[in-house]
Amino acid sequence: MRQKLVVGNWKMHGSRGQIQSLVAGLVSGFEKREHTVEIGICPTNIHLEQVGKLLATGKNSIKLGAQNTYFEEKGAFTGEVSALMLADMGVELVIIGHSERRRLFAETDGLIAAKFKAIQANGMMPILCVGESLEERKQGVTNQIVLAQLDSVINAAGIVAFTNATIAYEPIWAIGTGQTATPEQAQEVHCQIRGHLASSDAIIAEGVRIIYGGSVNSSNAGELFSQPDIDGGLVGGASLKAEEFISICKSAD
Ligand code: 13P
Repeated sequence: MRQKLVVGNWKMHGSRGQIQSLVAGLVSGFEKREHTVEIGICPTNIHLEQVGKLLATGKNSIKLGAQNTYFEEKGAFTGEVSALMLADMGVELVIIGHSERRRLFAETDGLIAAKFKAIQANGMMPILCVGESLEERKQGVTNQIVLAQLDSVINAAGIVAFTNATIAYEPIWAIGTGQTATPEQAQEVHCQIRGHLASSDAIIAEGVRIIYGGSVNSSNAGELFSQPDIDGGLVGGASLKAEEFISICKSAD
């Protein structure tokens, strides 16, 4: 039985003041109730220390996550932050391959695979994002696109690396648009992803968590998370409101 995972991707949002009240709300909300779902939050890098300290003040098991990293450990890479540095900050989860990074920052499959390996080498769990654009869906090539993104990491890191990795299926057309994939649409792709992994290793495929991202909110989370191959969510906008995020997490319990 796979433990459900819900991760908040805060993207480029938050001031110190907003973060103080958001994390306080999450900590007190989760203190009041037992939960079986694993929960992570990913602030910007400059807010990692603040969030880490706030999480440490309360009784909670919320994991600290990051939104990106670089694959080199150290050196002349102005503006970058290494996986070694993230691990040193207490980070446990790192998102990579997000479509915003692929599209806006021209990240390639090769770069993403190198990041995946660096995250694991530093004892953290990568959350590898994959997903198709609206045009690709219309052309009927969703599975090819998603599985090619996955294959580039399997080829570089090996299937065994997926014993400690999460895959996030995020159709680009569903991100920040309010147009969530239907539970059936998402389940179909998740099932393809798991089947593809199973062709290399059935046991690893059964254990790997595949979470869905794209306009998840408290109204649609329950139905999405109840699909057999949807193991939780990667939540953008709705993770910036404590009550809403807590309610999404509850749907995964
Ligand atoms: P939204 O939940 O705002 O659509 O964002 C999804 C996402 O990109 C999470 O990584």
